[in-house]
This record gives sequence, C-alpha cells and structure tokens, in this order.
Amino acid sequence: MSKIIVMIGAPGAGKGTQSRLLSEKYGYPQISTGDILREMAQADTSLGRKIKETMAAGQLVSDEILAQVILERTSQPDCENGYILDGYPRTLNQAHLLEDLALKQRKQVHLARVVVSEDALFKRLTGRRTCAKCGEIYNIYFRSPKVEGVCDLDGAPLAQRSDDNPESVSRRFEEYRRSTAPLIDYYRQSGRLIELDGELPVMEVFEKLCAVIEGPKS
Ligand code: AP5
Repeated sequence: MSKIIVMIGAPGAGKGTQSRLLSEKYGYPQISTGDILREMAQADTSLGRKIKETMAAGQLVSDEILAQVILERTSQPDCENGYILDGYPRTLNQAHLLEDLALKQRKQVHLARVVVSEDALFKRLTGRRTCAKCGEIYNIYFRSPKVEGVCDLDGAPLAQRSDDNPESVSRRFEEYRRSTAPLIDYYRQSGRLIELDGELPVMEVFEKLCAVIEGPKS
C-alpha cells in the first residue's frame, strides 16, 4: 500500500528539513502547505491578500481553504505512489479530512512528530534563511552558508520569511498550542504517532525517521 508520510511539529521543529531529505531518498513529492500558501499569497486577489495577512500574523489559514489545497495537490499524478505532508494536518478537522482522503486514495498514513523545546525553536526560526531559488534551508546560528546570504547550491540570494520575526513567531507558537496540541493528543491516543527527538543533529533525526518509516527489517 502506498504511503502518506505526515510530518508534525511546532514551527521550526524541522518538518521542512526532514521532508526534503525524505523526498530525495524515497522520491515522494514533498507537499508543504506553508509553501503552497506563500505562493497563493503572492496573487493580488482578495484570497491572496487574505492568506498573506493571516500568515504574516502567525495565524492559521481556514480549514476550508486548506481542504481545497490538499485535495487539488494530492490528486496530481506524482502523488499516486505516495507523498509527504509537511505542515498538514494542523487541526482536528484537517485530521479527519485526511483520514477520509487516505481511505479514498487507498493509502496508509504514517505519522511522525518532531519534538523540540520552544527556546531552541525561537533561535531556529529567527535565524532561518531560505534559498529563493531552490528552497534549501540554512540557519545563521547552526547551518550557515559558505558565503553569507548566498545559497551554496546555486548561488541565489537567501531570504528571510516575513513570519520569522519575533512577534509572528510568538503568535505561531500560541496558535500551535491552541490548534495543533489537541490533534497531537488525538493521534497519540490512537497509538499511531511516532515521536522523535528533533534536537539531535539533522542527519540523526533523519536516520531515526527512516527506520520508523521502513519498519522492522525482516
Ligand atoms: P509553515 O511554512 O508550515 O511554517 P511552520 O509550521 O511555522 O513551520 P516552519 O516551516 O517554520 O518550520 P519547519 O518545522 O518546517 O522547520 P525547518 O525545517 O524550516 O506554515 C506557515 C504558515 O502557513 C502557518 O503559520 C499558517 O499561517 C499557514 N499554514 C500552513 N499549513 C497550514 C495548515 N495545515 N492549516 C492552516 N494554516 C496553515 O527548520 C527551521 C530551522 O531550523 C532552519 O533554519 C533549519 O536549518 C533548522 N533546523 C532544522 N532541523 C534542525 C536540527 N535538527 N538541528 C538544528 N537546526 C535545525
């Protein structure tokens, strides 16, 4: 049965970093709802402006918009053999919708949560820089590029996200505690949630994640 790998974690926990590595290793597309919404926010339409304001304020975009985004994106042919959800679901409503979708698509959901303390997350988010061209993720404190402000891979400039300032980060933490914590409890009670120590070095987290996804070797 093909897989839906769901990466759950607080803002900055490393969902994007681990999803990119998973995508390279297994060939599944990485579906980042944050990236899709950031692209939608660039449109000069009432929907685009609404999404932009919501994200910059560190709040969650509505479940209705997300339902449409997920349905459209996961219906693409590249998702047929499986896909990685980076940032979805984040509410109980979204989790229920995903369950229905997985049934319809005949896919098995694997849930992994990356756990990091809020103090460490704050530095990760305010120090994050992303390549505007290829999306490679850096951090001025922990993973700096060879040349300041420039991507090692393609020489493109690095950008800081508009919601990575201290005020928006605090709002994102609040939103996470309010909306996503109940979802974590729900998944934990179902016995399907795998929790990983996200404060380990990136490749150590990745090794553990792969072991979980591949299951015990026979
Ligand atoms: P989104 O873009 O998903 O942001 P987020 O959840 O706040 O998560 P981030 O992307 O900030 O962090 P990450 O966990 O991917 O960490 P990363 O790997 O980059 O969403 C943005 C907004 O979109 C939301 O606020 C909301 O408005 C909206 N949205 C999105 N999905 C939605 C949904 N389902 N419903 C409603 N609204 C939605 O790593 C962070 C930094 O840490 C990097 O610098 C990285 O290099 C570093 N790092 C990573 N791993 C490690 C490690 N092991 N050790 C040291 N440093 C590390």
